[in-house]
Formats: sequence, structure tokens, C-alpha cells
Amino acid sequence: MIKILPSEITNRKDYMKRRNFIKGGLASMAMTLSSGALAFHNKDNLINKSTLDLNDKLNSYYEITNYNNYYEFGMGKSDPATNSGEFNPRPWSIKIEGLVHKPGTIDLEHILSNITIEDRIYRLRCVEGWSMVIPWQGFSLSKIIDIVQPYADANYIQFETVYRPDEMPGQKRLFNEFRGVLPWPYLEGLRMDEAMHPLTILSTGLYGHDLLNQNGAPIRLVVPWKYGFKSIKSIVTIRFVAKEPITTWSKVNPREYGFYSNVNPNVDHPRWSQATERRIGEFKRRETLMFNGYEDEVSDLYKNMDLIKYY
Ligand code: MTE
Repeated sequence: MIKILPSEITNRKDYMKRRNFIKGGLASMAMTLSSGALAFHNKDNLINKSTLDLNDKLNSYYEITNYNNYYEFGMGKSDPATNSGEFNPRPWSIKIEGLVHKPGTIDLEHILSNITIEDRIYRLRCVEGWSMVIPWQGFSLSKIIDIVQPYADANYIQFETVYRPDEMPGQKRLFNEFRGVLPWPYLEGLRMDEAMHPLTILSTGLYGHDLLNQNGAPIRLVVPWKYGFKSIKSIVTIRFVAKEPITTWSKVNPREYGFYSNVNPNVDHPRWSQATERRIGEFKRRETLMFNGYEDEVSDLYKNMDLIKYY
């Protein structure tokens, strides 16, 4: 088990002071979370604001690293923190496959030494009805896509989590207990325009620390306007494909989990309402926002789509 030292549990104020959010003269508005304007310190980023509200407080490092979903390490919320100590996320490489001009294997260290890491504070809304606000570090997935140059017919991307049953006890156990109901490896997918959207990131850290195993070390997807399960952890393969790819949850239970899985308070899960959510650390439920509050940024992606049909 990875022990978190008290000294590592950065309180929010210290974190705000320590992190360098103030490049580019954005000091006054950075991190105050007021009036919905939040700056990233990426010089060429198109999106220099987000839609966090004054009442969107960061969750603590402790909450973000101890209340997790990562079924490869078990099904309980504390299982990923407790059971992921044997997992070794370095060295790491990602296979680029399918419909691209430059397939191959990219070394994570190589990516990191050539890319500017940005800070992105996003809400994360789990399909189960809880949410957090997380200060990620990462970079736009589009940067990798631009490098590997997909063919014109690469309409979708499929992502795959590492399969290491010796280091991921849930990969063994679930198979036994549920007779393979949750097939490994965990798979997710995005349409190409979703993958290219500047809000879609590959994250390598949070709160200024490298990702811990329970959060998807060393590299995971974060798509803030979709239910959390789309944000696949510990990615080893990025596959460019022509047709909508298989994804774990829509394969296991297509009626309950669609390919798109955009956060939508108007489309309920068959077994519970999605109109409200519980922010971890709060008692009173709050209203769930359309596209998790990123409507201005992403609604164009779905303008001609029936969001009830394509849930
Ligand atoms: N990725 C893999 N490989 N396995 C998982 O079980 N759980 C998903 C997603 N990514 C999951 C995964 C779900 S349901 C959620 S809500 C988020 O990770 C949780 O991310 P967090 O634990 O970092 O908050």
C-alpha cells in the first residue's frame, strides 16, 4: 500500500501558493475561482477559461487519492489505494496502433521531456452520482494525435488499460468472482472530434505530484464533460479506428452505459436519477450541470444529435 505522508497532503492554500499559476500575467485571476474565469498557464492554449464557480472548491489530496474507482484493484472505494502498492508504473510506454501514419511505441519519458505540462482544474462527475474537483497536470490529447497523424478515416480512438494480473489483484479476482463479467483489459473510446477537443487531456499528475497508482499512474485520460468511467487509467494502447470502438461498460451493460456518456441531468440512469450529485466532502446534494458545466465549450460537438438516443 502506498502510504501518504501527512506532509504530502497539501492543503489547498499551500498548493495555491506553491504552484506557479501566474505565468503570463494572469496572476490576479488565476486560482481565485471567481466569476467563472480560470486561467491555465499554457501560452498557446485556446481555452484560457473554464467554468468553475465560486462554490467549486478543490477536493483535498487525501479525498482524491483515497476515494477511487479502479476495478483492477478491487471494487471498494478504498481498494485502489490499499491494493495498488505492487503496481509499477515506470518505465512506461504507449503503443500507437491502427489508422495512423506513424504507428509505434512512444516512451512516456520521451513524451514528458517534449511536452509542456499544464494545470487543469476540472470537475469529475462519476456516473454513480458523486463528484469532485481535481487539479490535474497534463496536456491536451490533441498534441499526441497531431504527432502520430491519423488517416482521414480514423473517426474514433480506442484506449486500453494495462493488463497485469500479477500487479492488479482485481484483474484476477473479478474474473473469478464474476466469471469474467468485467472483461479485461478495460477499454474506452472517443470520437475523433471529442479526442481533439482542447479540454480532453492526458493527465500525469495531480496537486503537483505524479499520479499515484490509484489515480491511474503514470498516465490517464480526463474528459471532464463525460461520466468519470470514460476517463480511462494507466493507458498502454491508443488505437485509431474507423468505427465506434468497443468500450468496457457499454459492452458489459449497453442499456445502462452508452458510448457517449456525456454528463446529462436530463437523462437518468435506468436505476437512478442523474439530476443531482453529492460532491465528496459535502452532505447536501447539488444539481448536476449539463455536460458537467462545460456546455459552452462542448455542446457544438453534439448539436445535431439526439442525446436521449446517444446517451
Ligand atoms: N479506468 C480503469 N482502467 N479502470 C477503472 O475501474 N474507473 C473509472 C475511471 N477510469 C476505472 C477507470 C471510473 S468509474 C471513474 S469515476 C474514474 O476513473 C475515477 O477516477 P479517480 O479514481 O481518479 O477519481
